[in-house]
Amino acid sequence: MGATNIVTVLPLGLQLQVDPGQTVMAAARQAGFFWPTVCDASASCGTCVSIIESGTEHCGPMPADEQETLARTMVPLDGLRRLACRLTVSGPVTVKKRGVHQADTEST
Ligand code: FES
Repeated sequence: MGATNIVTVLPLGLQLQVDPGQTVMAAARQAGFFWPTVCDASASCGTCVSIIESGTEHCGPMPADEQETLARTMVPLDGLRRLACRLTVSGPVTVKKRGVHQADTEST
């Protein structure tokens, strides 16, 4: 409890340190990476949605605003697709999200 957890982001291969209670997107931004977003992490656009490749058991509970946005954007509430702007972790997790890149480089 209280330990920093590692989230691996594919296909980039980025390894992020995510503090307890911190979202995956916030950790990526703090580390200098851009995560696709339209709503600026307010859980309303669905753009940050990411696929959980492993470690679902370490993913934090889905808040109501995340559930609402996933449902509205026709994403199944199966726990395998999560909004990175709401996803917290309590252990190692691997997620897949295209478009994550270093914030100071152009997306290719
Ligand atoms: S950034 Fe818009 S829903 Fe997460």
